[in-house]
Amino acid sequence: MSTSVYSRYRAAFAEGLASALGVQAADIEAQVKPAEAAHGDLSFATFPLAKAQKKAPPVIAKELAEKLSVPGLEIKAVGPYVNARFNAVPFTSEVLDAARKAGATYGGDADAGRGKTVVIDYSSPNIAKPIGFHHIRTTFLGHCIANIYRALGWRVEGINYLGDWGKQFGLVAVGFQEYGDPARIDDMGHLVEVYVRANKRAETEPAFDEKARDFFRRMEAGDAEALKLWNQFRETSIRGFKQIYARMGIEFEHIEGESRYQGKMDAVIEQIAKKPGVKESQGALIVDLPYAENEPPILLKKNDGSTLYATRDLAAAEDRHTRFQFEKSLYVVAQDQALHFRQVFRTLKEMGQPWADKCVHVAFGRIHGMSTRKGQVVQLNDVLDEAKERAAAKVKENQEAGRLQTDDPDKLAEQIGLGAIAFGDLKHKRATDYTFDWDEVVSFEGHTGPYLQYAHARVVNVLRKGGGAPATYDASLLTLPEEQALVREIMRLPEVVRDAAEQYEPSLVARLLLDVAAALSRYYTLGNQERDKRINVEGNDALRSARLALADAARVTLASGLTLLGIPTPENM
Ligand code: ARG
Repeated sequence: MSTSVYSRYRAAFAEGLASALGVQAADIEAQVKPAEAAHGDLSFATFPLAKAQKKAPPVIAKELAEKLSVPGLEIKAVGPYVNARFNAVPFTSEVLDAARKAGATYGGDADAGRGKTVVIDYSSPNIAKPIGFHHIRTTFLGHCIANIYRALGWRVEGINYLGDWGKQFGLVAVGFQEYGDPARIDDMGHLVEVYVRANKRAETEPAFDEKARDFFRRMEAGDAEALKLWNQFRETSIRGFKQIYARMGIEFEHIEGESRYQGKMDAVIEQIAKKPGVKESQGALIVDLPYAENEPPILLKKNDGSTLYATRDLAAAEDRHTRFQFEKSLYVVAQDQALHFRQVFRTLKEMGQPWADKCVHVAFGRIHGMSTRKGQVVQLNDVLDEAKERAAAKVKENQEAGRLQTDDPDKLAEQIGLGAIAFGDLKHKRATDYTFDWDEVVSFEGHTGPYLQYAHARVVNVLRKGGGAPATYDASLLTLPEEQALVREIMRLPEVVRDAAEQYEPSLVARLLLDVAAALSRYYTLGNQERDKRINVEGNDALRSARLALADAARVTLASGLTLLGIPTPENM
């Protein structure tokens, strides 16, 4: 497995400590932590040794530090800690070379997931229904998690599991008969309007609701006419969704929906029917899990024989395992569905599927306050349109003020708009709820996508002015604290990407990029104050080359990280 610069140094430090202590390096490695910046790069706390050695931790730390000698590390005791600092040489060139050699793949590791498959269920909107905020989050999060796993060498099977089966089609169908314009059956927006009206009416008019149910029953019974209409609605929706995904640069390995399991659910129901806890109740089939006392039972079949969301998820989980033999099967779905997934996974276990433990609900919180000028019903396309519009206004303003050059302002606005929404979402820890604020997300300053896109374009520009990045350079010239701080942020990307994969947490990557941009910005500020500290310093070619190499590594880090987040990286901004 290819190792990052950081992990190589950490391993070397752990080995040194282990041999000084006469223990295995593997036992020590987890105890080596990042040091506080003022005290070095790595830190080992000696408290746990005090009892056995019958000495005070600071004494142990001092003795250990004196004994230790590890190439590339400067080791010092600070109180009860043994700290290590990376020597600027060769550390600096190792980091810069790792980033620059990897280029667009920096942060990834093609060997880490080799031979393993991850299934990622994400986006998964419902056909002919309005897209909710949760579809926006799952789309961004899922896309990013898929990118991260791919960068780590996993085979990724991204599945857009469309909600394309269920009573809602009955609603659209009976609604279409009343309110639909047959000439607009190809218009996704129209179908959504019809659905919203029909849904409202069904709430107050039981006979209308019954008609919708009846339509769905006909679908499940294989009625050709009902299925034909359903298929038209489905095609219209898929066409509409595909336009949005193209805009976002998302390609699914599979677009398939709940309807795939039509006719295949009897087999699942048969498998489970004999298990304890499964019983008939008022004509319906339910699973009452014995250990889930305060939870409602799972409904597998209604008394009218129609199947449910959970039944289809059980069939889909099995199907995915059969097709892909996955190592992990992720469901990037709102926290609101936690009970559903807990029950589905437990039922799979009850059915004797050993791989049930490989299924993970990657849950996320809500977005509050997201609405567009078009209204409260959030359509992803409208959100992207409005973001683009707002970005276009800023592009124009900056162009007029001479702060921005571009030959394609429309494309740039689209890229900035997408970056704004994507980053505005991904910077939040996925489990937390957040409040959406238009002015904040499209701002070119602060913790935003446009700010990072700008940071990237700016460093591209610095490199351009300097005549490009040099092939060779002398890293020992990069001695400014601002330079060393930037090197350390660049260094972190591979670790952060790995952590983000393990925790299904894109926000870790988002935050690192903010740190890289902040370190770059401090570096520029310094250069603005003192001419000899500029990247493109005059009259010292060797120094300029070294600085350009550092700028290039920063560019690579920003570009690679933004790409993982699904954010475009325009070179002019
Ligand atoms: N279509 C569902 C919804 O919009 C989400 C589906 C998530 N995936 C799954 N396998 N259940 O709420």
